[in-house]
Amino acid sequence: MNERPILVTGGAGFIGSNFVHHMISNGYSVITLDALTYAGSTENLRAHTDNPQHEFVEGSIADGTLVKNLLISREPWAIVNFAAETHVDRSIDGPAAFIESNIVGVFVLLEAFQHYVAMRDKTDYRFLHVSTDEVYGSAGNEAFHETSPYAPSSPYAASKAAADHLSRAWYKTYGLPTIITNCSNNYGPYQFPEKLIPLMTVKALHEEALPVYGNGKQRRDWLHVSDHCSALQTVLESGQPGETYNVGCGQDVENLYVVQCLCATLDRIRPRANGNSYFDLVQYVDDRPGHDLRYAVDASKLRSELGWQPKIDFETGLESTIVWYLENEDWIRAVRADYEGERLGKFSGVG
Ligand code: NAD
Ligand code: TYD
Repeated sequence: MNERPILVTGGAGFIGSNFVHHMISNGYSVITLDALTYAGSTENLRAHTDNPQHEFVEGSIADGTLVKNLLISREPWAIVNFAAETHVDRSIDGPAAFIESNIVGVFVLLEAFQHYVAMRDKTDYRFLHVSTDEVYGSAGNEAFHETSPYAPSSPYAASKAAADHLSRAWYKTYGLPTIITNCSNNYGPYQFPEKLIPLMTVKALHEEALPVYGNGKQRRDWLHVSDHCSALQTVLESGQPGETYNVGCGQDVENLYVVQCLCATLDRIRPRANGNSYFDLVQYVDDRPGHDLRYAVDASKLRSELGWQPKIDFETGLESTIVWYLENEDWIRAVRADYEGERLGKFSGVG
């Protein structure tokens, strides 16, 4: 294993913090760089506050001087970039922050990394850009492959697509050892309660309406975050520079099925005082503009070339995730302190 650290950008967010925990428990040293937007919290990294394997630095990936100084002083062998604005609804309400972090930020990171590796043996370095299946747009009957054309629908997806193009171009033009992963929807611990699964869980527990967009028939391929983390470790250790790897479990389900499973689980482990099902709280609301009907990626390249496979089936992972939220109401309260969602009328809070 490489003795030098990994620079994890956006490591105080949902997937980033899970990845930091995952890599540290696998023996790696990690520097987390995070701007601590509303979606990032040092609460997510509390377990490593005094851990010599971990260092936290507050700052933006769009701050070129900060990033260059970090690279030169800490000498990481890899950057794994999670830093981004990530909520589709917010990208519709205010796309500017998405352009700044997701596109300009990635450009700054690439430039700084290029400068850093210029006088070194590039084969020893990696730039892993963590992206989304949303860059491909809405899927028909077939799942998307790594060579499928990009057709993003939302400002969020378009900004991630732009960053993927930059990462690929920096490999082709400058020989920078970049790798891209395009993953399906994640769920699990530490996900900010504005995304479907934690939002519905928290709202149900507070007897609030559960807002299902449109008819709820949109389909997503839900992957437990720990399976995403193992995929990213596999790609970091064995993936080929210049390549793209799709990540997903290949079983997309309707949003309504997710909400049904979630409510049935809560009915069993935390029944409502009035004896009714939580599903009675479902309210069909106006659909999201430009809402993609289906996301589906084919991850067979990652499975066959690098030997990765997911371990957690959706129903088991959903139950353990719900239990995590039930047991971590303090975490929900802490991250909620920064939450701007009330302005958007999405969340009325906990406690
Ligand atoms: P998140 O919103 O929970 O976390 C994003 C983190 O990035 C936060 O800690 C935030 O403070 C930080 N950040 C934002 N702008 C920054 C900047 N300019 N500089 C430094 N830090 C900044 O997001 P997530 O769900 O953990 O997603 C992480 C990455 O994975 C994103 O790039 C996203 O596009 C990608 N992804 C997410 C999913 C998913 O289902 N959540 C699926 C596939 C890919
Ligand atoms: P989300 O978790 O926001 O992820 P993404 O938009 O990146 O897929 O939403 C997942 C799905 O759930 C998506 O089809 C939109 C839908 N959804 C609702 O129906 N109601 C909600 O309150 C939210 C947040 C999402």
